[in-house]
Amino acid sequence: MNDDRPKSMDRNLAMEVVRVTEMAAIASARLMGRGQKNESDQAAVDAMRKAFDMLNIDGTVVIGEGERDEAPMLYIGEKVGKGTQSAAPVDIALDPLEGTNLCAYGKPGAISVVALSNRGGLLNAPDTYMEKIAVGPAARHAIDLSKSATDNLNAIAKAMGRLVAELTVVILDRDRHLDLIKEVRTAGARVRLIDDGDVAAAVATCFETSGVDVLMGTGGAPEGVISAAAVRCVDGAFQGRLRFRSKEEEARATRMGVKDLHKIYTAEELASGDVMFAATGVTTGDFLKGVRFFHNGCETHSIVMRSKTGTVRHITATHRFDKKPM
Ligand code: FBP
Repeated sequence: MNDDRPKSMDRNLAMEVVRVTEMAAIASARLMGRGQKNESDQAAVDAMRKAFDMLNIDGTVVIGEGERDEAPMLYIGEKVGKGTQSAAPVDIALDPLEGTNLCAYGKPGAISVVALSNRGGLLNAPDTYMEKIAVGPAARHAIDLSKSATDNLNAIAKAMGRLVAELTVVILDRDRHLDLIKEVRTAGARVRLIDDGDVAAAVATCFETSGVDVLMGTGGAPEGVISAAAVRCVDGAFQGRLRFRSKEEEARATRMGVKDLHKIYTAEELASGDVMFAATGVTTGDFLKGVRFFHNGCETHSIVMRSKTGTVRHITATHRFDKKPM
């Protein structure tokens, strides 16, 4: 029998997958600033789910909105895509609205994001926290999560040919980071505190024009895998170490197959496959503009990247609601 099933992801898929984040971004951006966190998220989920159905993939969500019983759609294990005979089998890590509060309160940096990989190429991270560090290509050999923030900043500055005082470090504004913030300030670096959205911050480190050089601190573990997938596409670097809130979370991670609970993962371990990454801005941030509505349409700004080729595409799209209602 002639099996024409592709063995790897078609490169054209990269151009298709951006529709998924565009649709989710537009749907959630309609609710921007209304203070409705859950509604914004649900709108993004619904739109993303619908957009996936148009893609010829045999997709399995490995990082999603939660377990089947707690998330009606885009839950871990859910099958998405047309799933035809010729469809590529892919694993998917997604966050239809990364930074739900940012969108709900009209603050900068909310994005819609997906990462696709050949099957088995994304770590099924437990829903816990992860201590993270991310940098762009120039400092890719300079980071080591087992060392102090000060040591990392000195090594990053040296690799980038800068003074520590010329580095901008993004950190989530959380009480758990008070010591880290103090150390980074003492080391002499510039600190930018963000309310939410450490995926966008990790990706921003890979683009010099973003003005962001380093991401440090602890955020969601699933977001860590998505960040690692993005960083891998452009030869940046990411390291992450799971941080558990309870013994139950540790036990759950063990059940999920995590052998060393204290392991420091590299981007290549978190996202080991042939990866595609797409993100669309919901609200304007460091490297993506947010959705802008006008009469009968809107404009979106997205980024699409592939680890295989390192190609980065910035896509500005105009959507006409009179021709294609959404
Ligand atoms: P949501 O999109 O689920 O609101 O997540 C936003 C976020 O800020 C992530 O970017 C980050 O990794 C995580 O939450 C941090 O978690 P916490 O808010 O519990 O500190």
